[in-house]
Amino acid sequence: MKLVIKKDYDEMSKLAAETIKGIVNNKPTAILGLATGSTPIGVYKELIKMNKSNDIDFSKVTTVNLDEYIGLGENDPQSYRYFMNKNLFEYININKSNTFVPNGLAENIEQEAKNYDNKIDELDGIDVQILGIGSNGHIAFNEPSDVLIAGTHLTGLTESTIEANSRFFDSASEVPKSALTMGLGQIMKSRKILLLAQGENKAEVVKELLSGKITTKNPSTMLQMHKDVTIIIDEEIGKLIK
Ligand code: PGA
Repeated sequence: MKLVIKKDYDEMSKLAAETIKGIVNNKPTAILGLATGSTPIGVYKELIKMNKSNDIDFSKVTTVNLDEYIGLGENDPQSYRYFMNKNLFEYININKSNTFVPNGLAENIEQEAKNYDNKIDELDGIDVQILGIGSNGHIAFNEPSDVLIAGTHLTGLTESTIEANSRFFDSASEVPKSALTMGLGQIMKSRKILLLAQGENKAEVVKELLSGKITTKNPSTMLQMHKDVTIIIDEEIGKLIK
């Protein structure tokens, strides 16, 4: 694993966006694994700028997102499909039919999960996966647990995740209690992974991620088994993990 410490959030975002630009310029049909949450917003802003200045072309790119809340559809402002439309897809020259987010309204969630994994496999896997990290160590919605699931699956959300995500809702009671998430096995198949973490509340889990120990109690620690992971953090976390 490679650790890169950047001065601040803007510099972290620029590095991730430059990396994606390099990959797409090299392979115009690249498959990008995308994430939601506060962390990747800066990366998406940079990619939008680059697209406007013709430095990156998304016309042949395909994207697959990590997760979606159960029960929320694309017109719901809290859904991750809506987030992606409003923070990236509507501002770049991507073909909307090449953007995939799990369907949280699917009648048969188990089938939707299988279809999602099949879709990723059909695409021949993800070239670069962007990841945030929960302050409890979760990756996508793979929450700390005794057992982690490899493929895309239905999962309950932990109290700490519901609490953390309640900032986007009017109250914690409105946060969905379950989600469809890519599993860590699927995420680990990505050819390259960029994990971004910012802010002191992530310092402890990032320290564990770099500890050389692997535990399902901090799902991010699995990434230590991947051969091409870059962890991009800001100086604030950098100081705390030294
Ligand atoms: P955040 O969430 O980017 O909003 O901090 C990260 C995550 O929960 O994976």
